[in-house]
Amino acid sequence: MNVQGESLYHKVHARSLADPEGFWSEAAKEIDWVESPKKIFDPSQGTYGRWFAGGVVNTCYNALDRHVERGRADQLALIHDSPLTNSVTKLTYAELLNEVQALAAIMHDFGVAKGDRVILYMPMVPEAVVAMLACARIGAVHSVVFGGFAAKELATRIDDAQPKLILSASCGIEPGRIVQYKPLLDEAIRLAGSKPKACIVLQRPQLTCDLTAGRDYDWASLRRKALNDGKKAPCVPVAATDPLYILYTSGTTGIPKGVVRDNGGHLVAVKWSMFNLYGVKPGEVWWCGSDIGWVVGHSYIVYGPLFHGATTIMYEGKPVGTPDAGAFWRVISEHKAVAFFTAPTAFRAIRKEDPEGKFIRQYDLTKFRTLFLAGERADPPTVEWAEQQLKVPVIDHWWQTETGWCIAGNPVGLGMLPVKHGSPTVPMPGYQVDVVDEAAKPVGPNTMGSIVIRLPMPPGCLPTLWNQDERFKEAYLSEFPGYYKTSDAGYKDDDGYVFVMGRTDDIINVAGHRLSTGGMEEILASHPDVAECAVLGVKDAIKGEVPCGFLVLKAGVKRAPAEIEKEIIALVRDKLGPVAAFKLAITVGRLPKTRSGKILRGTIKKIADGESWTMPATIEDPKALEEIGEALKGRV
Ligand code: COA
Ligand code: AMP
Repeated sequence: MNVQGESLYHKVHARSLADPEGFWSEAAKEIDWVESPKKIFDPSQGTYGRWFAGGVVNTCYNALDRHVERGRADQLALIHDSPLTNSVTKLTYAELLNEVQALAAIMHDFGVAKGDRVILYMPMVPEAVVAMLACARIGAVHSVVFGGFAAKELATRIDDAQPKLILSASCGIEPGRIVQYKPLLDEAIRLAGSKPKACIVLQRPQLTCDLTAGRDYDWASLRRKALNDGKKAPCVPVAATDPLYILYTSGTTGIPKGVVRDNGGHLVAVKWSMFNLYGVKPGEVWWCGSDIGWVVGHSYIVYGPLFHGATTIMYEGKPVGTPDAGAFWRVISEHKAVAFFTAPTAFRAIRKEDPEGKFIRQYDLTKFRTLFLAGERADPPTVEWAEQQLKVPVIDHWWQTETGWCIAGNPVGLGMLPVKHGSPTVPMPGYQVDVVDEAAKPVGPNTMGSIVIRLPMPPGCLPTLWNQDERFKEAYLSEFPGYYKTSDAGYKDDDGYVFVMGRTDDIINVAGHRLSTGGMEEILASHPDVAECAVLGVKDAIKGEVPCGFLVLKAGVKRAPAEIEKEIIALVRDKLGPVAAFKLAITVGRLPKTRSGKILRGTIKKIADGESWTMPATIEDPKALEEIGEALKGRV
């Protein structure tokens, strides 16, 4: 914001595109480098160039040590609030550093060195944050796997990342249910071709597990010994271009994509965003209500707030039911959070339980300044409701696992621009966002097209996929030369506001979680009675979308379809995980197709969503769509 109260946004964004190296070299001054970058951007490296080439840095040092050295030792770094275990745990910067140094030393003793991968399959406990930072400290590459994924998904990630060590816990806790992690971990290691050297397992008091002799080690015993022995691992300097982590995300097949995040670009971009985008100052309390298994959790539960010297809240609970729809307001008021970041789906869930916002008025929210939403399109009715109830700006912002931080948002620190409901506002610095047609030609304002980002992407964005440069180029760079393809479709209006309307691939968004319908179809097709199948996302009032599977059974199958449908639902839960929320399997006689054999997914979706639809001219047999309508009656 300048002295006249105008937003600095347009000036800042224009400069970031006209002089990217100047812009990002200034932003890089906020980071403590072991050696300054030799080149701010080196176009000759990597798949489309690399940021901060020649720089040497340590991410953990920037998150912890420097703050302890410069007066924040006694400030809270992490507040863990868990209505699911009825506990609040607080760690100062000095205490968190102490824990991280000890765990880093333990991992070092297991032979983990710079560049080695470590998988974390952990619930939302403080130890998960300690583990991520401990990896960063010794230059190991962490890969966090969301606890709601099943053993097979974990196995796929183990095979791709080939970790030396896995850190896990005895259980996760979901409302009314304890999720045993150990059987999932054991099964994943059994399925995986690449076996870790060892596992460190955190025993949670809610449910402990047996440890496998010779492979599993008790986290608490190792920790106690390391602390008693005064073991501390120092920060290992790494190249700015070295990977900090791999985070797997859904691709168009069952094999997830290993998004690589580097150390230097991530540090600079995420640190920049904390004030300029989120308007948070060092020393303030910030809350991101995601899970560490998702990119949002990486960037804004763990790294961003700590790079910035803020206090971060980690929440093990739900928006409703833990114990009620006032849970979010209780956390904000109790810990004095100035800003909160969550997914629109959480607000839909709260609104359903507390439409008049009665819970909101039970809490003191005077410190609370801004609500940020991301993960899925923020539907205008939800945004309006949140604005009316909370009386603070509600800011939708758009990003992807691949980018690691916001592509388009409304920069609070630079001075907010007017909010337009339905739009995440404007591209952040370094992002030249275009909307293009099939020939990669930009289309005019208010015209729908593919949303693309002109190369190079800004710091923080993925340089490639883990060990798969070719897949990276093919999936993201080849279709629109000179651009990164976001696989989102939408338009820009006359003011340059971006509107993100939906995906152009098979990805669906279920309660802010990104899932591949292609991956689910592979699971359905593996059932012995299924001849053919299609999975698509259908509208859901709370989750936005939920998957719906259509099954055609093999000729001669005599079993009751309802029985097979139940098995299919169980199969998806078992192979992909409960997070898929796959609860709709519907048997049909055939799938409606075009004459060239393409399944008419768009039309089926419209029928399922109760929207108006027209008979596609290319349909093979119009009756097939009527049959779908019949099959859906009473099911969605
Ligand atoms: N470990 C094990 N299981 C998990 C899990 C985890 N970490 N997280 C979710 N699950 C399970 C849930 O228990 C549920 O299982 P069920 O089918 O037995 O009920 C299933 O996965 C779906 O979970 P979820 O998507 O959380 O749905 P829900 O019905 O429990 O709650 C909402 C609905 C809207 C309250 C919830 O989805 C929510 O808070 N979403 C916000 C998402 C978010 O923050 N996304 C990050 C993007 S910014
Ligand atoms: P993920 O990689 O899990 O963060 O999911 C990224 C995808 O979620 C994007 O490509 C979009 O399809 C969707 N998404 C995330 N945030 C938004 C938003 N603010 N508006 C519209 N879509 C969004």
